[in-house]
This record gives sequence, C-alpha cells and structure tokens, in this order.
Amino acid sequence: MNKQIALYSVEQFDGMRQAGRLAALTLDYITPFVVPGVTTGKLDALMEEFMRDHGAIPATLGYRGYPKASCISANHIVCHGIPGDKVLYDGDIVNIDITPILNGWYGDSSRMYYVGTPSVKAKRVVECAFHAMWAGINQAQIGNTMGDIGYAIEACAAKERFSVVEDFCGHGVGQAFHLLPNVLNYGNKGEGMTIQEGMIFTVEPMVNIGGPDTLVLSDGWTAITKDRTLSAQFEHTIGITKDGPEIFTLSPAGYDYPPYIPQKSIQTK
Ligand code: MF3
Ligand code: CO
Ligand code: CO
Repeated sequence: MNKQIALYSVEQFDGMRQAGRLAALTLDYITPFVVPGVTTGKLDALMEEFMRDHGAIPATLGYRGYPKASCISANHIVCHGIPGDKVLYDGDIVNIDITPILNGWYGDSSRMYYVGTPSVKAKRVVECAFHAMWAGINQAQIGNTMGDIGYAIEACAAKERFSVVEDFCGHGVGQAFHLLPNVLNYGNKGEGMTIQEGMIFTVEPMVNIGGPDTLVLSDGWTAITKDRTLSAQFEHTIGITKDGPEIFTLSPAGYDYPPYIPQKSIQTK
C-alpha cells in the first residue's frame, strides 16, 4: 500500500522548509504591488526577479510549455492565469501562485489578494476558500485518509452554498512539481489513501460562488468558471509529522489572510 508515495526524512523536510519559506517570502514581497492599475505581467516580473535573487528558479517557467514565473488568476479565473498585459482594477480578487525551486526542492503556495476594496460577495468566497484550505490541512494527520481532507474542504464550501472545483486537485510535491498523491478537494470520510508520516503534499482548494464546472481558454492554460462566477483559492505545501501537519509555506510577515496589513519588516536574505 502507498508504494508509489514518497516518504521523506527529517533532513529532506529541511529542504522543503527553505523552499517553502521562499515561496511565502515571495508572496509577502509582492503584496504592496497588488494595487489598482498594475499589470499581472509586472507582478510576474517582480516575483521572478525576487525568486532568482534568492537563489531559486521558478518551477512554472517552461513547465509543460507554461510561459511565466507565476500563475495570476483574477475573479472568474479559477487557476493557471498567464500573467501579461492584463490590468488589475479596484474590487478585483486575484490569486497569485508560485513555486520556487530552491536547492532542488519545490515550494508551492498561493494566496488571494484584494485589489483595492472587494465586494461583500468577493470577500465571502475568499474567506471560504481560506477556511476550506485550513479545514483540509487540519485533517492531514497520521492515520486519517485523503478522503477526510476532501470531505472537510467540501463541507466548508457547502456551508456557504458555494462549490468546490473538481477538475483540479492538490498533489504530492518535493523534488518534482507534481507527484502522487492526488489531493482531491472532495471525498468521503475514511476513504482513499491513508496519511503517513513523511508525506509531503499541497492542499489547494478552489471555491466557486456558482457551479463547480470549469473551462480552459484557447491559450491552453487559463481555467475559468463555466458560469463566470467568482472563484478563490489558497494553497500551502505541508509535511506530515507525528505532531500533525507542518506548514512549509506560512507567511513570515503574517500575511495569512487578506487584507494584508504590514506588520513587521522581514530579513529575506
Ligand atoms: N502551482 C500550480 C499548482 O499549485 C501549478 C501551476 S502549473 C503551471 O499546482 F504550469 F500552470 F504553471
Ligand atoms: Co500546487
Ligand atoms: Co501552486
């Protein structure tokens, strides 16, 4: 059982701690630039420079032909939005997802940002996605199953009468970008693979105000909600320990939950 799933040692966890921290620092760094009038291409360029300055390579660049250092997905874009000339406007909600490779280890994380002031509806879906991610992470305990994670995520969305996207899932991660296990954002308690010490994977639910269905645009990447309703996502990379899940991608600046209020200055090097 679980034969194909890598289990990582304490030393290997340290590689993930560093890569995860850099992912979080990059998302912290970009925060003050996410304002009305900025282009997604500008944000991408700044983050690419930051990751390279800290000794990392952006994993998305050239991944299956993907052209940029980040995914930036606004409003009804579910995920894999390609940065470019698109301007962000007051009231937009936007997910920024990055994966620096540091010393061979992949740290994968995303957060939602408010561009200016969000609508009440937009705030609700962002808050729901955040709580859904944490509900999933809290189930990531030795002896629980993957279905426990999916069930907890789905229950969070259902409580708000929102839906979770079924077309994308979390994934094992480590010295490659996308590994087993698949971490589905729905499921039944007690079903699926058993969670073991040393597993490393992402929890990254996408929550839609409307239905769960998605479409991929003709660029081959950008996934949108089929009904064009707003979508939100958060993502952490975690490792399973005896003491529960260790979150590799926590924000050193405390930017866990938008709006992000500057608190302390962080030494990044
Ligand atoms: N970072 C995304 C994830 O969470 C994957 C992006 S792949 C890309 O798994 F090619 F679209 F960049
Ligand atoms: Co991921
Ligand atoms: Co990601």
